[in-house]
Parts: sequence; structure tokens; C-alpha cells
Amino acid sequence: MRIVDLRSDTITQPTPSMRRAMADAEVGDDVFGEDPTVNRLEEMAAERLGKEAALFVASGTMANMVSLMSHCGRGDEIILGDRAHTFLYEQGGSAAIGGIHPWTVPNQPDGKLALNDIEYAIRADNDHFPRTRLIVLENTHNRCNGSPLDAGYMQAVGKIARNHGLKVHVDGARIFNAATALGVEARDLVSEADSVTFCLSKALAAPVGSVVCGAKDYIAKARRARKVLGGGMRQAGILAAAGIVALTEMVDRLKDDHDNAHRLAEVLTGINGLSVDPECAKTNIVYINIENSDLTSQVLTERLNTEGVRLLPTGPRQMRAVTNYHVTSDDIEYALGVFSKALML
Ligand SMILES: Cc1ncc(COP(=O)(O)O)c(C=O)c1O
Repeated sequence: MRIVDLRSDTITQPTPSMRRAMADAEVGDDVFGEDPTVNRLEEMAAERLGKEAALFVASGTMANMVSLMSHCGRGDEIILGDRAHTFLYEQGGSAAIGGIHPWTVPNQPDGKLALNDIEYAIRADNDHFPRTRLIVLENTHNRCNGSPLDAGYMQAVGKIARNHGLKVHVDGARIFNAATALGVEARDLVSEADSVTFCLSKALAAPVGSVVCGAKDYIAKARRARKVLGGGMRQAGILAAAGIVALTEMVDRLKDDHDNAHRLAEVLTGINGLSVDPECAKTNIVYINIENSDLTSQVLTERLNTEGVRLLPTGPRQMRAVTNYHVTSDDIEYALGVFSKALML
């Protein structure tokens, strides 16, 4: 059966050139700093993000955890969006493991935090309050239609942080999608950020891994945090080799995913019983709402799945489609046909 897997960009399989690079990778003990392939990936990542140094870690969740622990101590507070991945989907690890208190402010539909809301959430110096240390942004914003946050906004948040002696962390799991959509370099989006993480294993199709980027002394702290989380890997160059291919070969093709997502959204919005805002489909993520109250996302995704089209239910009447490396424009047309049939049942 033809399969069009739109559940996530994390389902991507390593490309043939990634597999070759992994097989041939020169490796060493990375806890001793002796893995040349990891070192090369970290140098490349730092350079692309315009930071001094970088650290290869196992996942996006670990990248965020390490980043927060390196900025904050126990009892410190972070300001982040109420739809942020770090808040919703990382087990509250910042509090559970780091002792870090979250203050959530509403994410706007485009993934931004209103500047007034950020200012309001910054604590005064008072014995009753935790100390605000960090503002966390997500770019692109997964739960907010994969929206890219523009450089002007990112700089405006950086300015607030500087004025109040705070730091900025960017969960840039899909920062290269943001840069592609906005027509800028990824480093232009994070010039004011003290740390930025990005995932190799999502839209860039590497099998494993994320990278934390920041100043040299910050990355030294992050390295310690990674170790205590159990993330000090040894011959990790096998994985980093695929990451290098991800950075060199997979960024330029992201526009195809965005075009496919836009096409999907544009046609689905015209289908009776569904609502999608094609204006919101700016990167590779599309959220689809079911207007027909007799139909649930569980039932509709099961119907689609019987014809090989896979989506993720994200609410009782909401589903998510994420275009990715394995999905062609022809697959999108096929998926659209399957949607029409599934809604007629
Ligand atoms: C915005 C964002 N941040 C972080 C993560 C966590 O990444 P991982 O699944 O590699 O832990 C995800 C995963 O989907 C994500 O979408």
C-alpha cells in the first residue's frame, strides 16, 4: 500500500549519504573531547548559528533541559509560552530535574509572546519572589502552526532581556525551517539569543541528535549538565556524521516541504467539514480542524490510515500534518484525494 506519513518530521529515515557517512565516520571518545566527527559537527553548528561553540546532545528535550540548567539555578524562574514544547511536552523537566519555576504567558496565534506580557512577568527584586533569569522562545513554533518568528521580534525580546539583566534561550528545533520561510540566515534569527538549540533529527532527517549553541563558557556549563543527565556519549561520531550531512545537504530542500504544506492547507480549507488557515501554513506544519461535530480526529485519522495516509490526532477535533523529506508533491495530491473520500463516508 502507498504510505504518506505526515505524522511528524521525526519519522524521517537517514538518507543514503547519511548512511555512508555514518559507516565511514572517524570516531573517538567524545567524553574526552576526542571524537573528531562530533567536534566537526559542533564547529559547523556554532558557525551556522553565529555562536562561539556548540554541544551535540541526544535529543531536543535534552538540548532544552541542558540549556535551562546552564542558565538557571534551583528556584530561578523562566518566562515561556503556554504552548511551548518545553512547557507542554517535556514532562516539566525544568521543574522536576532543574528546580526551575515556569511562568507561562499566552502564546499569540503566531507563536510570539506579547512584549507587554513578557515585561509584566519579569519579577521585582523581592524576598517573596523567585528570581527571573531567562526568557524562552520557540522558533518555529510547533503548536502555533509551525509559525516562524521574525528577526525583528527576536531582537525586540533580546532588548527586553538586556534591559532587565535576563538571558534568552531559543528552542530552535526547526530554526532552519524558520530561516527558510523568512528568507534569512538562521544566525540572523538568534543574534540576540544567549543560547539556541536545533534538531538534526526532525526536518533535516538525521536519525538522532540535537545541538546546543552559545558562548564558550556557556557551552562548558552545558557540557557538565549533559553529563549529569547521562548524555555524555562516547563514539558519538557515528551519529554526528549524519548530522553533518543534515547540515550540508538537507537545509536547502526545506522549501519543498513548505510548498507541500501550503498546498495541503490550501486545498483542505476548501473541503466541506474542515477548516485550515492556509495563511498559517508558512513552514512544514499544518493543523487541521474538523468542523463536523459528529466526526472525531480519532475516527478520521483511522479512515485516512486505511488508505496509507497518516496524520496525528492532536485534539478531539484537531489533527496535525507535517510535511517531510519522504513526502513528494505527488504524495500530497494522493493524500488530498484520500481526505475527500474519507469525509464522504
Ligand atoms: C519545538 C520542539 N522542541 C523540542 C522538541 C523535542 O525534541 P525531541 O523529540 O528530540 O526530544 C520537539 C519535538 O517535537 C519540538 O517540536
